[in-house]
Amino acid sequence: MTDRFHFDPAEVAVADVVPKGRPLHVEVGFGKDIRLLREAAARPDEDFVGVEISRKKALSFCRKVARAGLRNVRACQSDVRRVLEGLPAGSVASFTILFPDPWPKRRHWKNRWIQPVTAALLFRALVPGGTVTTATDHEGYRDQIRTCLLGAGFELLHEGGEVPQADRTLFTERFERLRAPVTYFRWRKGEPPASAQASAGRPGAGTAEAAGPTRPPS
Ligand SMILES: C[S@@+](CC[C@H](N)C(=O)[O-])C[C@H]1O[C@@H](n2cnc3c(N)ncnc32)[C@H](O)[C@@H]1O
Repeated sequence: MTDRFHFDPAEVAVADVVPKGRPLHVEVGFGKDIRLLREAAARPDEDFVGVEISRKKALSFCRKVARAGLRNVRACQSDVRRVLEGLPAGSVASFTILFPDPWPKRRHWKNRWIQPVTAALLFRALVPGGTVTTATDHEGYRDQIRTCLLGAGFELLHEGGEVPQADRTLFTERFERLRAPVTYFRWRKGEPPASAQASAGRPGAGTAEAAGPTRPPS
């Protein structure tokens, strides 16, 4: 399904749905949250794409975009791993990834989508100096994210336990209610280390937990 609010990356490339020459910001796994709507409304001269694997959540988001009358934000219902493979190098100003599913059981770790290969794809898609913002409540996934992003060449700008107002989401509130500590990271694209380039194609490289398939199921 492809329309003004929503597109399928199998039918249309991300690069073809956003105007050229404006900063593009991508949020992955927005769920039921509307942080992306707030950001798009506040920055009408920039473009925003939300990638969400759940069709129901993506369609619900599209209805909110339509009601808000925003023209600079779209939902892409897809597995982010497919989208990352199709993004042109140096095309994205920022990625925001708030509370990606941590898959706590060891046998499910392979389902975590932040792996060495996807970290390298995030790096490749960003403009020089582009940023990645991540948050998680899960210590194991926190360590995996740190290892993968450092391995891909990202520079750590910030690590802390507070989520700034602009990045607060429904899951931020959920973890606050549960008094569960969270880790909030900000990263910047630096120069890729030679080792990251050499290992980018090897699933499981760079982290003990990052074993298993790194491509989306077909
Ligand atoms: C724990 S929720 C967090 C939602 C929101 N970011 C928040 O903080 O309130 C994770 C979201 O990521 C989505 N998701 C999981 N795997 C994904 C993938 N491979 N590609 C895109 N979205 C994914 C899920 O459907 C879910 O909506």
